Amino acid sequence: MPWGAVTRTCKRQVQTVTTLSEILHLDSSARTAESVTRLLSQHVVKRLCQLDSEATVTRRDLTTTELPHINSVLAEALFVQDDLLDEQLLSNLALSNLLVTELLAAETVVAGIPMYNFSVPSSFKAWIDLVVRPRKTFRKIENGRLEGLCQGKQLFACTAGHGQFNNTPLDHLRPYLEKVFSFIGFDEVLFFDAERMAWGPDEKRRSIVAATACIDVHFGT
Ligand SMILES: Cc1cc2nc3c(=O)[nH]c(=O)nc-3n(C[C@H](O)[C@H](O)[C@H](O)COP(=O)(O)O)c2cc1C
Repeated sequence: MPWGAVTRTCKRQVQTVTTLSEILHLDSSARTAESVTRLLSQHVVKRLCQLDSEATVTRRDLTTTELPHINSVLAEALFVQDDLLDEQLLSNLALSNLLVTELLAAETVVAGIPMYNFSVPSSFKAWIDLVVRPRKTFRKIENGRLEGLCQGKQLFACTAGHGQFNNTPLDHLRPYLEKVFSFIGFDEVLFFDAERMAWGPDEKRRSIVAATACIDVHFGT
């Protein structure tokens, strides 16, 4: 696959769950081995896979996928009806179409999203700009109202930050994620937060342990 998504099936079975889970696992931390959000998002995926041995995980690392900023061609193409797209516009939309397909196929999105300058990393914003699309993930209904097309989906957002900004006016991460995912129709956005990462090693450890425990409590383990 040209943009490098990996799909795998979970191996482990701990509880019997009858429904199939399609999981889209996103990460957007620029860091790899040291990343707290990657650690937490991986933990959520592990728990989901333990709940459903048939779960399928599509992995999309937004830092290794080359996600373009919206240029003038994309700014036009994203709003053109499918039947009016020429070859050139279609080829410009290929990555966006692929990311939309991955999103629409997923029942659950698990995303590692650190706070960068009070909001989402630019890689995550680039992904949002490519998947929030008319007639694909939202549509116009009567009287100019808009309706999200991602009903039935949930987002588990694993966040981290140096400071403690949750529930403060400086938090443009969680409220933004809630707004944008509810705009495209998500039923639920749940956060597992590891804040205070720069408040010393003890506080950092405590916060990561607490976030991991929240995940375990949520999934009943
Ligand atoms: C470019 C950049 C901007 C950041 N901005 C903030 C911020 O606004 N607030 C905050 O609490 N932490 C901020 N941080 C710290 C990260 O959120 C923190 O290191 C977090 O653990 C990163 O997630 P990761 O461990 O998954 O890489 C920033 C880090 C970087 C690299």
